[in-house]
Amino acid sequence: MPAPLVPATPAFEADGTPYSPLFDDIFHSREGGPAQARHVFLGGNGLPGRWKKKSRFTILETGFGIGLNFLAAWSAWRDDPDGPAKLHFVSIEKHPFSATDLARLHARHPEFAALSSELCAAWPMLVPGFHRLEFEQGNVVLTLCLGDVATVLPQLRLSADALFLDGFAPARNPDMWSSSALKLVGKLAAQNATFATYTAAASVRDALGAAGFEVRKVPGYASKRDMLCGRYMRPGSAPAAPSQRRALVIGAGLAGGAVCERLAARGWELDLVERAPGPAQEASGNHAGAFHPLVTIDDNVMAQLSRAAFCHALRQWPTLDGVSWSRCGVLQMPRTEEESRGQSKALAALGYPPSYASLVSRDEAAAKAGIEVTEGGVWFPSGGWMQPATLVRAFLEKAKPRLHFGTHVDRLERSSQGWLARDVAGNPIAEAPIVVLANADDALRLAPSTFATVRRVRGQVSYLPAAKVPPIRAVLLRGGMVLPATQGVAVTGASYDVEDNDPNPRLDSHVGNLERLARILPECIGQLDPLTLEGRVGFRAVTRDRLPMVGSLSDDPQSAGLQGAFAYGSRGILWCGLMAEVLASRLEGDPLPIEARLAKAVDAGRFERRARPG
Ligand SMILES: Cc1cc2nc3c(=O)[nH]c(=O)nc-3n(C[C@H](O)[C@H](O)[C@H](O)COP(=O)(O)OP(=O)(O)OC[C@H]3O[C@@H](n4cnc5c(N)ncnc54)[C@H](O)[C@@H]3O)c2cc1C
Ligand SMILES: C[S@@+](CC[C@H](N)C(=O)[O-])C[C@H]1O[C@@H](n2cnc3c(N)ncnc32)[C@H](O)[C@@H]1O
Repeated sequence: MPAPLVPATPAFEADGTPYSPLFDDIFHSREGGPAQARHVFLGGNGLPGRWKKKSRFTILETGFGIGLNFLAAWSAWRDDPDGPAKLHFVSIEKHPFSATDLARLHARHPEFAALSSELCAAWPMLVPGFHRLEFEQGNVVLTLCLGDVATVLPQLRLSADALFLDGFAPARNPDMWSSSALKLVGKLAAQNATFATYTAAASVRDALGAAGFEVRKVPGYASKRDMLCGRYMRPGSAPAAPSQRRALVIGAGLAGGAVCERLAARGWELDLVERAPGPAQEASGNHAGAFHPLVTIDDNVMAQLSRAAFCHALRQWPTLDGVSWSRCGVLQMPRTEEESRGQSKALAALGYPPSYASLVSRDEAAAKAGIEVTEGGVWFPSGGWMQPATLVRAFLEKAKPRLHFGTHVDRLERSSQGWLARDVAGNPIAEAPIVVLANADDALRLAPSTFATVRRVRGQVSYLPAAKVPPIRAVLLRGGMVLPATQGVAVTGASYDVEDNDPNPRLDSHVGNLERLARILPECIGQLDPLTLEGRVGFRAVTRDRLPMVGSLSDDPQSAGLQGAFAYGSRGILWCGLMAEVLASRLEGDPLPIEARLAKAVDAGRFERRARPG
């Protein structure tokens, strides 16, 4: 059972220094937080000197706390015209402050006022997992890992140039300084990485030495006589940087659009090939769809991934222009007594903040939904609806790839540049070292696999005239879904038709959709005639484990450069942004934005790897 995340509560010593009742220690030197950050953590790592003119510089911190080290590093980056093009700051925190408390703590440091207000505005909901926040047009990237160092460190995939070891006094918090934790830190160090810490404890010095660091004692900050800093002396982890930033993306739906946006943000040159005459004409072309995370009592991989993707989407979407969506809230009503008990148990055990998910009674649910409902359930206040085509267009507007609409990729061939796409007449379309297959269930036709399979599952939504459904204020789910009306249409559905290739809306699917709707809004059914309803059919691409396929399709050198971003099943709105960030981070050698176990669960080569002996 996963342990709920316990936020920190601000407390202060008599002299105003922030104090942790949990650890019985102060957060920083009484003589000043920002100055300590500069002396110990920046100075101890030879910064800003060591990052000058680098294309990327990665700092790993244990203990985000108040974030003064991050603000000091960001501020130094701002002041340094020769600073790295991209600064990654990855920080682990078991007990994060809320945004309100952080703002209050930062108010003591007016020099950081502007940066603090950006940080607090981007601050995530306090739910476990990794949260990637971007600042300075994506050139300063904070990956906040909410969890215990012991569980987070093995899940990081990065190559750190500098290490900020900041976890309270070793005597008060030995877990943070254990030899196993510091060994894991060493495994994440790049060649010649440096570290710094304010402590000079002999136990820490010894554990760092055993983990492969050369350790030096140097003058500490203010009244502290000594601190430790040094260098990693073993061969370090090395990020793989791409030799060329060029890719050919196939498919202009949510998957392909999001991949274009994330790669273009990293300076990639892109060709986007789509067989339809424009973007979002297949599965991603429904009038609207729902988005919300999943909650399960065991917080399984799907629940963790959906949480990460949900939080990522809520940060990304507001940065895009022209997207039509709403965080109107989502009410998930149980279908059975057993499901209802499961919901109660899960929410009691997981201890989520109400801003993420909470259990609501029937009356509370009715107040939120703006209508009588049959049942209470799980309320996701930040869930809602999205018009997916507007999202795809916004991605493409930002990425500005070269567009090849109305062009069907018949086959891919190896070429001197990597991969060449040809149309059905054998004419070349475009070529690039990297191909991203974002063409849903057609991906494995272009890159056949012995082990992976993707099913094509028909889905039909029904479009209800707004006048014939009550004016609900939230998305309502109970097996099926119904969305608040937008542009005069309320979407309900959807059918799930395996081995059914019919592209046209059908009466039996409308009837099925109304049966599902009857469980949610029984009183409106009488007004709806399935014979007169309009609707739309799309095809989901679904793997055996219902998880997306992201990244390299195979380890076989013959497949080098072949990447996947497909099989988004019934959750493409949710998956597209985070999966694109995972793919782009892998291609760039950036720190991964999610835990290694989650990245492995969506890895496009997983079926092949699992089938291999040993
Ligand atoms: C009925 C229904 C309801 C849904 N409701 C929701 C919902 O409420 N919430 C949610 O999150 N998700 C929902 N989904 C799922 C979501 O729509 C999909 O997961 C998502 O649209 C998949 O995006 P995609 O880009 O992978 O696929 P697509 O949008 O299908 O894009 C793939 C593109 O590749 C192109 N292509 C394919 N082969 C080639 C080729 N050889 N050459 C050139 N181009 C090619 C296609 O033309 C297409 O445009 C629903 C799906 C359906 C069917
Ligand atoms: C001294 S404070 C860090 C100060 C911070 N670097 C700053 O710049 O403000 C130490 C932090 O480590 C966190 N911490 C303690 N034990 C931890 C653990 N086992 N895993 C992750 N974080 C932990 C504490 O909650 C606290 O916020």
